[in-house]
Amino acid sequence: MNRDLLACRPHPSKKISDAIAGDPTIVNLTVGEPGYGPPAVVLDGVARRLGVRTEDPAPSYDRYTHSRGLPALRQAIAGYYHRRYGLEVDPDAEVLVTNGGAGALWLTVFTLTNPGDEVVIPDPCYMLFEPIVRSLGRRPVRIATRAERRFRLDPDDFAAQLTDRTRLLMINSPENPTGTVYDRETLEALYGLVAERGIHLMHDEVFDSLLFEGQHLPARLLEPETRHTVMVNSFSKRFGMTGWRLGWMLAAPDVVEAATKALTFQCLACGTLVQEGAAAGLADTSTDPLVARHCEELQAKSLRFVEKLTAIDGFDLPAGPPRGGFYAFADVRRLYRRLVDRGEAPGPESEVVARYLLQHAKVGVVPGNGFGDAGEGFVRISYAAPEAHLDEAVTRLRAMRETLGA
Ligand SMILES: Cc1ncc(COP(=O)(O)O)c(C=O)c1O
Repeated sequence: MNRDLLACRPHPSKKISDAIAGDPTIVNLTVGEPGYGPPAVVLDGVARRLGVRTEDPAPSYDRYTHSRGLPALRQAIAGYYHRRYGLEVDPDAEVLVTNGGAGALWLTVFTLTNPGDEVVIPDPCYMLFEPIVRSLGRRPVRIATRAERRFRLDPDDFAAQLTDRTRLLMINSPENPTGTVYDRETLEALYGLVAERGIHLMHDEVFDSLLFEGQHLPARLLEPETRHTVMVNSFSKRFGMTGWRLGWMLAAPDVVEAATKALTFQCLACGTLVQEGAAAGLADTSTDPLVARHCEELQAKSLRFVEKLTAIDGFDLPAGPPRGGFYAFADVRRLYRRLVDRGEAPGPESEVVARYLLQHAKVGVVPGNGFGDAGEGFVRISYAAPEAHLDEAVTRLRAMRETLGA
């Protein structure tokens, strides 16, 4: 078997969420799945298409699409970048439809690097980046970020790690798990270093619509034509369609061409009906205010949750409240010390605390060290869950903390 694959730890969040999924006594705050589902235009469009089946015994959705993706969907994606940022994107040359953002991440690494190449990843960062790089025999170079810098990768630290084997920098903004958002200055400095070297900056922007303040800045906006950036995006978070498995990559034509070849070898094409539905949703501008409303609701929920959480002794947010996305990344080192003082066996701080919360408060969270070594001492808590679940979690955590004494 593939040694590099076998050497990777299982996906930490999926492992926990799968393990506790069937237990109704646990408040599961491990996963980031929004409560809202796809916009009506998506669902109605698909239902209508299925409805014509009797009239058309061989509808086009029974067949493969072009490996690059359904033309109408690529057009809708290009239209999205145009209406949001004024960007001119060639839907035939610069867009590839993928199996979720996750599919686009894998294709980016596979297409842009060779075995042994170095790929730079901030630490902590989204948990799929490193195992994708490792399982493909590439070398992840993790660079610790600091809460004082709001967990943004410091361009000086990046410059210091560049070698002649560096091929790719992977960032995520708004970021899972830290909730950080890259500011223009940092993004420009990182992009400048990448462009100077002729390598690539991959910006995972799957939370682009769930930013709480200001304007989302895609790295692609920093260059006049697509050369050194690869944007990765998805329908999962924007439209609450995680199960539909649909995303995209926006990159230079030669990168898209090579990645299309890879996608063809891997799975031939993405699901046709799913692409039809997503195209209808993204092309319809009435979904923009709907998504904006979901974002406002999420922000309000985030603020309420974070206020109650940080009022509990031992749950700190040193980087401040999340700026976007679904997660609070709480520093639980004080809680860990308290637990050990009270007789809990020492171990990796994140894991000891996450296990304790699961066993004693019946609240499921993800240990921060699953996002990189620098996530040690933190836990990721998803506030995408319904408000009632969040309230129940807070009640349980508060009660748990009280039993530990002052
Ligand atoms: C930062 C980030 N990128 C990519 C993904 C993958 O998303 P998708 O469901 O589109 O594959 C996720 C999912 O949680 C994510 O948080």
